[in-house]
Amino acid sequence: MNEYSANAAGAHVAHGGANTWNTWPATLPRQARLLETGIENGRTRSLVLDLGLDAQPGQFVMAWLPGLDEKPFSLAEANPVTLTVARVGPFSSALHDLRPGDRLGIRGPFGHGFSVVGRHALLAGGGYGVAPLGFLAKALLQAGVRVTAAIGARTAGDLLTGHFERLGLDPCVTTEDGSAGIQGRITPLVEKLLLYGEVDTLYACGPNGMLETLEQLSLEIGIPAQLGWEAHMRCGIGICGSCQRGRLLVCRDGPVLPAGAR
Ligand SMILES: Cc1cc2nc3c(=O)[nH]c(=O)nc-3n(C[C@H](O)[C@H](O)[C@H](O)COP(=O)(O)OP(=O)(O)OC[C@H]3O[C@@H](n4cnc5c(N)ncnc54)[C@H](O)[C@@H]3O)c2cc1C
Ligand code: FES
Repeated sequence: MNEYSANAAGAHVAHGGANTWNTWPATLPRQARLLETGIENGRTRSLVLDLGLDAQPGQFVMAWLPGLDEKPFSLAEANPVTLTVARVGPFSSALHDLRPGDRLGIRGPFGHGFSVVGRHALLAGGGYGVAPLGFLAKALLQAGVRVTAAIGARTAGDLLTGHFERLGLDPCVTTEDGSAGIQGRITPLVEKLLLYGEVDTLYACGPNGMLETLEQLSLEIGIPAQLGWEAHMRCGIGICGSCQRGRLLVCRDGPVLPAGAR
């Protein structure tokens, strides 16, 4: 970890060392180095950077590889900054190919994260949506909130269980092909847990189709939900309009929005 941290408003504070910078706007990229990578599953790695941010679970950063692209990633941990990246295309593959000591640019933290409320939380993650939920689970447990976790994936090989297991949580699992846990999608499991699991808040992150179903369930059953949405992003700070969802900009007003927000 390096000697810096930045608060949510972007103030970059030196904690010692020779460097005398004492402010650094979140809107400008700062240089980070890859410290180490951890394998989460066959196509997903967690990248640990030499950077610390003062950020909330559910907030995201823009990762920049000069000459290639800049894309949003949820914080799987803020201090040190850790990104859990699924290898699906050119940018995520380039992140996977980084070696310890390689550099990348990081802007952020951006957006609104999850709020810690209630006494018994249900956390539901689909795909890489599990990444910010591990960070959230840690904050909930520290606040004395009971946590039930559910994870959905296509196959056993796509599951991301480590983020919860490292906290001592044993997540309920669904896979579409039945290769692990309950066969099917995560949404029927979440519906049962909302109806019979004595939970008072739903936190969910994953593909937008999954979130739309969970939003509907939350509104019908009457258990409040905080949902972390995906969107195509370019600027990350509410300027370009590429992440519009209804009247809202996901990067600025979200990515975490309460169920029913439009
Ligand atoms: C707020 C926010 C947070 C995000 N957090 C993360 C994160 O924590 N980890 C992460 O890996 N990605 C995250 N993403 C997605 C990330 O920004 C990139 O879109 C992703 O890495 C793919 O970029 P690419 O250039 O490698 O592939 P692309 O060329 O953009 O995509 C290749 C193909 O894979 C599909 N695809 C894209 N992402 C996924 C996926 N995760 N799983 C399955 N198929 C996919 C695309 O639809 C396309 O068909 C986040 C996006 C947003 C908006
Ligand atoms: S990414 Fe530009 S407005 Fe949201």
